Amino acid sequence: MSDKLQAVIFDLDGVITDTAEHHYLAWKAIGDELNLPFTREFNENLKGVSRLESLRLLLSLSPVELNYSEEQLNALAERKNDLYKELIAQIKPSDVLPGIPELLGKLKRLGIKTAIASASKNAFSVIKNLKMEEQFDIIVDAAEIKNSKPDPEVFLAAAEQLGVKPEACVGIEDAVAGVEAIRSAHMTAVAIGKKEHFPHAHVTYSCTAELNADALIELHRQH
Ligand code: BG6
Ligand code: MG
Repeated sequence: MSDKLQAVIFDLDGVITDTAEHHYLAWKAIGDELNLPFTREFNENLKGVSRLESLRLLLSLSPVELNYSEEQLNALAERKNDLYKELIAQIKPSDVLPGIPELLGKLKRLGIKTAIASASKNAFSVIKNLKMEEQFDIIVDAAEIKNSKPDPEVFLAAAEQLGVKPEACVGIEDAVAGVEAIRSAHMTAVAIGKKEHFPHAHVTYSCTAELNADALIELHRQH
């Protein structure tokens, strides 16, 4: 049996708020400009993945080899980020996904710590617009880590900063790369999305409204 559940570590984009959709729309605009057959299904591969790696995946859809220089690649990534920043500028506190405020409240009452583990360099802007700066014990974003998801680094850094063992944590993700990162960190993995995308998760919920502190405690106890 594992140690008692001591912390829940949340991904940000697509778990706390629907910025996964904003990332998708920004990449879709770039994909359309370049005439690439970018679909929502393919976008599942980009979730949780760093900006430049996402661009590399998007460009891999081209039927002909694209030989962009590093400057051109950086310019495309920057343009996607500008589009994304326009979208997240509109984010407000009511954009927190259903079930998240209740879950955070209950975890706090139970003395279970919380953290954000995000692959995004825009994580702090999103959290600020949601007015959630005070709601997590720790926030770890892309600026603090060397290796992006699926590497476990961001989840391990969050656990370390919280002062808890990885085995005492549950991680919550909407990305395939994120669930892999949680599993590699030896944490209990909760996925949000379609069950068929997450064969490695310990449990998959279709949406955040289904999250529940007692169920997370029980799930962690079983793993
Ligand atoms: C992750 C998103 O949280 O952050 C990815 O799931 C995104 O879609 C990645 O590519 C990097 O984000 P940013 O904001 O630094 O471009
Ligand atoms: Mg995500």
